[in-house]
Amino acid sequence: MPAMSLPVRIAPSLLACDFHRLGEELARAEQAGADWHHVDVMDGHFVPNLSLGPPVIESIKKVAQRPLDVHLMIEDPGAWAQRYADAGADLLTFHYEAAQSDFDATLEAFRDTGCPVGVAVNPPCPVDDLKPFLERIDLILVMSVHAGFGGQSFLPEVLDKVRALRSWGYQGDIQMDGGVTAATGPACAEAGANVLVAGTFLFRATDMAAALAELREQAESALATT
Ligand code: DX5
Ligand code: ZN
Repeated sequence: MPAMSLPVRIAPSLLACDFHRLGEELARAEQAGADWHHVDVMDGHFVPNLSLGPPVIESIKKVAQRPLDVHLMIEDPGAWAQRYADAGADLLTFHYEAAQSDFDATLEAFRDTGCPVGVAVNPPCPVDDLKPFLERIDLILVMSVHAGFGGQSFLPEVLDKVRALRSWGYQGDIQMDGGVTAATGPACAEAGANVLVAGTFLFRATDMAAALAELREQAESALATT
């Protein structure tokens, strides 16, 4: 089942930007047509990489003209939910694998922040466990690489999870993150994903606006033909 009437949204991942010029990079993404800013938070424990935390999000929030889509790749996410909401997140996504033992309580801690809530799954993690919770989840992030690093290759086998979610009637946003390009984006949209995160493909493009327009056009026409 396609993503119905949900709009295609493109979210450049700041992980691939030039952090030395963070403010300019935010503006560059916005001028290129970004719908959301995808902000990757890595704690060096849940994933073997470290990126940024609440103080940087607070700074970004002061200048960003688009919603901050915060992807938490951290352990014990429920303990941090309010802190990231206070920092200025407009959407908070945590990993199911990081909260498996107390998922219901963690989901509630995120819902209590008042932010729309996303749940992410890495490639080996099935989505079946999410089935009883679908009505309480605003966005499902189906990772198309193993969380932790930008610049990896897209794993097409995860598309079955997107199809499964739509076949169960899930009507929230489905986001794909990892190795998304104008070449891989159409398959994501065809499967039912409507939010595409792209780091390397957009920030390292010679012309970011052209790359973003191409990704959007490819995804929208793939969606239209489903
Ligand atoms: C990986 C991050 C991604 C990453 C995507 O753990 O969640 O958001 O920045 O980067 P690309 O688009 O380069 O695969
Ligand atoms: Zn991400």
